Order: sequence, then structure tokens, then C-alpha cells
Amino acid sequence: MKVTIFGTGYVGLVTAGCLAHKNHEVLCYDTDNDRIKKLDNGLVPIFEPGLDNIIAEGIGSGKLLFTSSPQEALRSLDIIILCVGTPDKGSGETSLIAIESCAKTISDISSQSVPVLIKSTVPVGTSVKIQYLINKGLKERKLDIKIPVASNPEFLHEGVAISEFYNPDRIILGTKDQEVIKATIKLYEGLMPESQEILVMSPESSELTKYASNSFLATKISYMNQLSQFCSLVGANIDDVRKGMGPDPDIAPGYLYAGCGFGGSCLPKDINSLIYQAGEKGRDLSILKAVREVNENQKKYLFSIAASLFSNEFKDKKVAIWGLSFKPETDDMRGAPSLTIIKKLLDSGAKVECYDPVVSQDREKFNIQNESLRLGTDPYEVVRDADCLIICTEWNEFKNINYKKLGSLMNRKTILDGRNILFPKEAALNNFEYFDIGRTSINQR
Ligand SMILES: NC(=O)c1ccc[n+]([C@@H]2O[C@H](COP(=O)([O-])OP(=O)(O)OC[C@H]3O[C@@H](n4cnc5c(N)ncnc54)[C@H](O)[C@@H]3O)[C@@H](O)[C@H]2O)c1
Repeated sequence: MKVTIFGTGYVGLVTAGCLAHKNHEVLCYDTDNDRIKKLDNGLVPIFEPGLDNIIAEGIGSGKLLFTSSPQEALRSLDIIILCVGTPDKGSGETSLIAIESCAKTISDISSQSVPVLIKSTVPVGTSVKIQYLINKGLKERKLDIKIPVASNPEFLHEGVAISEFYNPDRIILGTKDQEVIKATIKLYEGLMPESQEILVMSPESSELTKYASNSFLATKISYMNQLSQFCSLVGANIDDVRKGMGPDPDIAPGYLYAGCGFGGSCLPKDINSLIYQAGEKGRDLSILKAVREVNENQKKYLFSIAASLFSNEFKDKKVAIWGLSFKPETDDMRGAPSLTIIKKLLDSGAKVECYDPVVSQDREKFNIQNESLRLGTDPYEVVRDADCLIICTEWNEFKNINYKKLGSLMNRKTILDGRNILFPKEAALNNFEYFDIGRTSINQR
């Protein structure tokens, strides 16, 4: 099929690369001209494992093209997929500026019937709204063509997005239009879930399924995080509790890992949006408000341990941070717990040096302007003379820690492990003070 994708971010590029790999002819359109120029030269602006390769393969085979011209993007095509951003306006309300601007571009320029799939995460009712805007635009142009809009939410996880695209656990389509259903089945040929079925439902149910799923995952994390603090008080180990819970298929093992809070571009934004959407209808999603509050507190937990270690006196203290991205195998810093911890440390007068395997390579991404903050390119270089090391992201390279080297460089041998990746006994054997999330009893500290 000839596929046009609006938006070349994490979702747009993964979708584009994978569809081109499956022999579709994919044309990506973005309003960010610099991004398109880079992509045209084979430079992928984001880090996602395997993405460079499939983009290069697509460009090489001629199956994947990029354009900043909406006319070219809409010239001749079988399906449009919208993958533009839907950020939080700050109040929880979702900004629909980008998705509405896509609707305007499509209705102003298109001259043929073509289905539109909305992959962006959008509030319930958005597909219907976008359909209305497109129909209105076409009517004004007195064009008798059909551009049906359907919801087709994306469930990929950054870091494993490509393998998930090839092996999805479900594909959801919100539409009643038989032509759209047919086109979507053709689009995903060879990319179907194990059931070999697309779950077709109303646009509203489809849109809500995405928010309901992300909010549920966030709920699992906050539940474990809150339990982890209780574990530390009663001598239980949250990791053992997790292992004991996960085998129950009604619980499932994913998202049960306690840590220093969840972040990313999706979970925090989607919870806020769902709370806001329910509030608009006079409903209080108190359960999600609690999830959000637990997460905000959890992001401050490691700082509070550091504060008690230093008796709230951070002047002349240096803290090293390992890991900046909100999770490993991505460079995405949106909503990352590291940002909360760094801000609190800087506000308290500490000097902070950070290292991240990917973010360190691209200093522009890390935009905190503060002379007490340094971004290093070597994990051991940033711990020199540090009074404390805080691990914020579970990158593999941190798991093979060289305690001897670390100990010889640090001023005070203290580790706050926000992702439970080290072994408490090993840290103790190497004479480190070690604190984690719910595995070490407070009495042992
Ligand atoms: N990142 C994820 O892991 C993930 C997973 C599932 C769903 N989603 C959802 O998918 C959507 C996109 O997320 P993302 O992380 O890829 O966003 P992103 O911010 O990385 O990329 C969005 C892209 O859209 C472009 N854009 C904005 N307005 C445009 C327009 N009018 N026409 C064409 N391009 C335009 C931007 O320039 C940018 O390149 C969001 O709704 C998000 O919630 C994201």
C-alpha cells in the first residue's frame, strides 16, 4: 500500500520503518523541516534500538521517503496514519493542536478518498471531532470524496518498539466503516497478533482502551512503589514479593518492579488526560489521582534518603547520577524521575554530575541551565569526589559495576539504587553504604 505518515517522532518513525520493511511504500511528512532534512540524509533524530537499521534499509530500498511538503504527502496514497504529538497543556487537558492541524492539511489539500487512522493517543471523542473537521473542509471545497477517520491506538513501548510492532499483542481499530476495516487488515498483513484478528470497536471505546491500558500499567507501578516503602519498614523484600505475585496470570509479571518512579512521554500524560476527561464529565477518577500522587512522592524518595544522610546540608556535597532517560534503551527524557531528583539536588545547593549511555552523547537533549550541573561521558569520571551515587535508570552497563574503581574515586562510598539493579550484599562486602527501593530493611541501614 502507499502509506503517508504524519509525524516522525518515536511512533511515526517506528511505524514507517516497520511498514517499509513489510514492503509498503511509505512517505513520512513532518512540519519540522530540520527533522525531515536530517532523515533525508539518513540521520535518525531519536534513539530506539534497531531503528537506524530499518530506516536505512527503507531508504536504501526506495520504500521509505520523507517530505516537508503536504502537497507531496497527499498526492497519491491508500491510507494516512497520524502519529503527531498530543502533549499535556499543563492542566491535564490534551493539546489537539497538532492533530487538528493534520485535519486541516488533509481537508485543504486531499483530492482523493482515503482512510485516516489516528495512532496518536487522543481523548475520547477526538476521532469524531477530526471526522467533523475534515468533512467540513471538504464541504467548503465542494469535493465529493470520502475521508473516513478511525482510531487505531499505538501500544508500543520505547526500547522494544520494533519487535513489538512486528509482534503486537493486539491491534485495535475504532470504526464502523467496512472500507476502513478492509484497508487496515491489508496494512497489517504479516503484522497481526497471535489471534490473527483486529479488535474492531467504536472509536470511543478504542480511544479509551489506550488510556485505560496505560493508566492500569501506571497503577501497577505505583502500587508496588507504595508497598516497597512498607517493605523497608517490616523487613520484607519487594523483589521477592514481586516474584511471588507475578506468576498469577490474573496479576501478570510486567510493571511490578518497584523503582524511583515512572516517567516517559506516555504514562504521566495519559493519566493526567484521563483524570481531566473524567472531570469534564463530572467524574472523579480518584484511583488515578492516588497513582499520580504516589508517583510524585516516589520520584522524591531517593532525594529524601540523600537529605537524611547529609542532614539536609548539600552545600559542598557532590552527587553523581547514573542514568537520565526515563528507562533504558531510549533517549527519551520526558517526565524522567532523574529530572526531579536533579532539580531537588540543585535547589538544595548540591553539585551534580550525570552520566547516561545515550543522553550523554547528545548534550542538546539535556537542557537544565545550571553551572552546578555537569554532564559527563564516562560513568567513572562523574563519580570522582562524589559523596553519593544515585542510579536513576537501569541501563545494563551499570549492572557490571566496578566497586573497587568506584570506591577509589568517591569521597563517600554511598549508593542509592533507584532501580534495584545491584546486590545489597555485594555492595556491603565492598564497604559501600547501600540503599535501594524496598529490598533493604530500614533496620539494616
Ligand atoms: N512515544 C511513545 O512511546 C508512544 C507510544 C504509544 C503512543 N504514543 C502516542 O503517539 C503520539 C506521538 O508520540 P511520539 O512520542 O512519537 O511524539 P513525538 O513528539 O516524538 O513526535 C511527534 C512528531 O509530530 C510532528 N508534528 C507535529 N505537528 C505536525 C503536523 N501538523 N503534521 C505533521 N507532523 C507534525 C512533530 O514535529 C514531531 O516530529 C502521541 O499521541 C503519543 O501519546 C507514543
